[in-house]
Amino acid sequence: MGSELLSAPAFKHYTSLVNLVNATLGDYLSINNMPYQVVADAMQYSVEIGGKRVRPLLVLEFCRICGGNISDALPFACALELIHTYSLVHDDLPAMDNDSFRRGKESTWKKYGEAYGILTGDALLTYAFQIASDAGVSDHTTTIATRCLANYAGIFGMIGGQTLDLQNEMSEDITLEDLKETHRLKTGALIRCACELGCAAADASSEQFEASKKYAENLGLAFQITDDILDVTGNPEVLGKEVGQDAANGKVTYVTLLGVEEAEKLAAEYTQNALDALDAFDDVEYLREATKYLLNREN
Ligand code: IPE
Ligand code: IPE
Ligand code: MG
Ligand code: MG
Ligand code: MG
Repeated sequence: MGSELLSAPAFKHYTSLVNLVNATLGDYLSINNMPYQVVADAMQYSVEIGGKRVRPLLVLEFCRICGGNISDALPFACALELIHTYSLVHDDLPAMDNDSFRRGKESTWKKYGEAYGILTGDALLTYAFQIASDAGVSDHTTTIATRCLANYAGIFGMIGGQTLDLQNEMSEDITLEDLKETHRLKTGALIRCACELGCAAADASSEQFEASKKYAENLGLAFQITDDILDVTGNPEVLGKEVGQDAANGKVTYVTLLGVEEAEKLAAEYTQNALDALDAFDDVEYLREATKYLLNREN
C-alpha cells in the first residue's frame, strides 16, 4: 500500500502485515529439489513478482478486529493469496484475457509457456488446500476455513464469475444487473472469502460474520469497478499490467455502460456502504483507511 494515501501509523501497520504474509508465502514456496522444479519455480515467480496482498491483509484484519490471534489466520491468508494468484495466472492465458504483463513483469504463461502456465495455476490451487488443511488450528476452524475456500473459489464463486465474464463477451445486451452479478462472483467471492476466513480464525460471533459479509460484498463491487476504471485511465507502469485490455477483448464493463465519472460515483457509493458496515466493529481505523485507499488506488 502506498504511503501517500495512508496515515503513517496505518502505513506502518500494513507494511508489517505485508512483510509477514510475504515471508510466510516465501517459506511455503521454497520447494526445492522437486522432480519437476519448473512448476515450483513458476509458482514462486507468479506469487513473488508482486501483488498488493489485499486478500491476505483482509483475512488478518478481520481476525484481529474479531478478537482473534492473527497467527491462527496466517495459513489461510496465504492459501487465499495462492488461489488469487492462480486465478490471475489462468485469467492471463491466451484463451482467456491474453495478457502478457502482470504485477509489472511477464505473465506466467509468457515466461514459462502456456502449458506450464496451466499447470502452475493448477498447482497453486491445489497447494492452497494442502496449506489450509495443515494450518495447525482446531479441526473445527480448519473445516470451516477449507469449506470457505472451496466454496468461494469454485463454481459457486470465482469460477462462476469468470464463466459469466466469458459469456458476457459473446452477448450483445449486457445490463448493469448482469455485470453486477459477474463482478460479485469473479472478484467479490474471493474478497468475501477473505473476510470470512478472518472471522472463522477468530471464532467470530454470527453478528460479526454478518457485518463482514456486508463489508465484503460492497468492497468487492467497488474493487472490480475500480479495476475496470483503471483499465481505461491507469498508467501501465504504475498499474503493473496492460491497459485497454477490456476494450481489446470486447468486454462490457461499468465504464462501457456508465462512463468513467458515473462508474467512479458508484465505486464511491459501494465503498461508503463498506465503511458503514465497519460500524459494527471496534478498532477499525486502519481498515477504514485501507478501504478508502482501495478506492483511490493507482494500481
Ligand atoms: C486483480 O486483483 C484482479 C481482480 C480481481 C480485479 P488485484 O488488483 O488484487 O491484483 P494484485 O494481487 O494486486 O496483483
Ligand atoms: C479478473 O478480472 C478477475 C479474476 C478472477 C482473475 P480482470 O480480468 O478484470 O482482472 P485483470 O484486470 O486481468 O487483473
Ligand atoms: Mg478477466
Ligand atoms: Mg484479466
Ligand atoms: Mg481488469
